[in-house]
Amino acid sequence: MKALHHLAVIMDGNGRWAERRGLPRWRGHERGLGAVRRLCEAACRLQIPCVSLFAFSSENWKRPETEVRFLFRLFRRYLGAEREYLLARGIRVSAFGRRDRLPRPVLEALERTEAETRECGRLHLRIALDYGARYEIASAARELAGAAARGELDPGEITEERVSRVLGHDAAPDPDLVIRTAGERRLSNFLLWQAAYSELYFSPTLWPDFGDSDLDAALADYGRRTRKFGALPLPEAR
Ligand code: FPP
Repeated sequence: MKALHHLAVIMDGNGRWAERRGLPRWRGHERGLGAVRRLCEAACRLQIPCVSLFAFSSENWKRPETEVRFLFRLFRRYLGAEREYLLARGIRVSAFGRRDRLPRPVLEALERTEAETRECGRLHLRIALDYGARYEIASAARELAGAAARGELDPGEITEERVSRVLGHDAAPDPDLVIRTAGERRLSNFLLWQAAYSELYFSPTLWPDFGDSDLDAALADYGRRTRKFGALPLPEAR
């Protein structure tokens, strides 16, 4: 398999999955947990060391309050119900995004899981919660500008590497592959800086149905890509 150090996934289509069955939207979100478990299993099996999931965007606050409340209850339930599984499989969980607006019980459950799984080394599961890439980039700019204003940083030293370091609080590599499910073809404010050279794959499958064969198709497609990073292909990739 072509090297895949970090797989990022925009889990889309939960609402459509439910609506097509005449079910309330929350049933699609609930069903989406099964797809999260399947992806974790596959990542462990395929030795993909890092997976990022877009679970709640900064824009998702605009959804009806009942849906937002349900989603946060679901995240909390996930963290509690999956505790044993995560520890048994050696899966480290961490979240990225804003923490100041998360409901307190969710934040507490998250911090507990992060602490309990910190030493797990088989898979790093990163969950984007209240995440928006533009906000993240603006925050990094603010942090660097503050350091410069205090005389702690020469503005000439603000390089791409330094910005990446400020953005990447948990030192995850940039994603090699970003998969978006449910047919939409956009990044929707997900990892805009980090995905500059990521390969993009759009799957028609709705997230609750996303399984091993969909992942295999994405990985096979990724395997056929030539990654050049703006240069010429490496001799072995030509
Ligand atoms: C997008 O589908 C999905 C979400 C906003 C929520 C994703 C959450 C989960 C899969 C549940 C739990 C996840 C973790 C990591 C514990 P949509 O509602 O926008 O679907 P639609 O476009 O069909 O309406």
